[in-house]
Amino acid sequence: MIIMKINKFTVIGAGTMGHGIAELALIAGYEVWLNDVNDEILKNALNKIKWSLTELQKKGKLKGETDQILSRIHTTSNLEEALKDTDFMVEAVIEDINLKSKIFAKADEVSDGILATNTSSLPISEIAESTKKPERVIGMHFFNPPVLMPLVEIIKGKLTSDNTVKETFQVTKNLGKEPVLAKKDIPGFIVTRILFRLLETSCYLVESGKATIEDVDYTAKTELGFPMGVFLLQDNIGIDVDYLIMNSMTKRGFEIYNCEIIKEKFEKKEYGVKSGKGFYTHPAKIVSGKIIDPSFIISSAVNEAYFLLKEDVASKDDIDKSCKLGLGWPKGIFDYANQIGLDKIRNILEFLEKETGEKHFEPQF
Ligand SMILES: NC(=O)c1ccc[n+]([C@@H]2O[C@H](COP(=O)([O-])OP(=O)(O)OC[C@H]3O[C@@H](n4cnc5c(N)ncnc54)[C@H](O)[C@@H]3O)[C@@H](O)[C@H]2O)c1
Repeated sequence: MIIMKINKFTVIGAGTMGHGIAELALIAGYEVWLNDVNDEILKNALNKIKWSLTELQKKGKLKGETDQILSRIHTTSNLEEALKDTDFMVEAVIEDINLKSKIFAKADEVSDGILATNTSSLPISEIAESTKKPERVIGMHFFNPPVLMPLVEIIKGKLTSDNTVKETFQVTKNLGKEPVLAKKDIPGFIVTRILFRLLETSCYLVESGKATIEDVDYTAKTELGFPMGVFLLQDNIGIDVDYLIMNSMTKRGFEIYNCEIIKEKFEKKEYGVKSGKGFYTHPAKIVSGKIIDPSFIISSAVNEAYFLLKEDVASKDDIDKSCKLGLGWPKGIFDYANQIGLDKIRNILEFLEKETGEKHFEPQF
């Protein structure tokens, strides 16, 4: 493998994710071109990067001087200028397949570098169709906030070359992140699929009257060690974001229990922390609740982990790493499965299949 030299690192989209990814690339020592639709947004992004670098420096977590690091960033609202002859692009514009395709088509026209997308839910292979060289298109899914979250899911599209995967792994490590590989381009990759499985069992428990939102979260926090339970985590991610991603995944074949309480919150525009109210009124933390059987909450997520393994989407180690680094769990999902026992999980899944009529609960192990 030849590790490529990256003279130009481009980030398209300077929003929540884009400015964080640009900051990581700056810290890693790259010359960075950051693009968005206007100078006002770019100025804002630059201020956020400056603030964050200063904070890192105060905490002694930054090698080098803020000013010197910042001297390597070039901002432009001209897409072609940002993309021309780029060696590595990360696209982080809004989740819109037409817009992403347009950007990839332009990148394909004016550069020979690796073209990565930070999409949360769109198929890499669909985005790659807008290019003539789909072998250099790849998914690079960062978590929010990119500077602090240690995991990056790397997603191989149908036509992504092995070399593109290897180079992207190296770049991810250069950015100080831990890569995991989704070998197949399936909706939600690894972490989002597992997250939605937790949500569906939790929704079922609440909607069937077996537990309250507080019971689920208190149990998830105290018995499973999940830092934000299940519902409080949704409030933090944003119920609007989650609902749209879930719909995009179901449209592409992901089967999931129809969670009415999420839909209700979405329709009432109760999106969570960002709107002040979601499953909780904010600021909120998990303080009390009844302890229920934690195996119920995690059962469908365990099943999903076995599905990912069976379908050769990811390795056991990468699935465990994804849960620990992407969701902040104290241990991997297969550790929970061993601790609870697969017989017990099978019984719960069969119960869920019978109760809901949902075939996707069928045990995958
Ligand atoms: N926010 C998250 O938690 C998160 C996590 C992982 C992945 N993602 C994915 O990252 C991507 C970006 O999400 P975000 O949360 O940063 O969104 P955001 O809305 O904060 O930022 C998107 C940016 O794209 C810019 N943009 C729109 N049209 C553009 C164009 N034609 N050219 C250049 N820039 C343009 C917008 O002006 C905006 O600044 C999405 O695909 C999202 O699914 C988001």
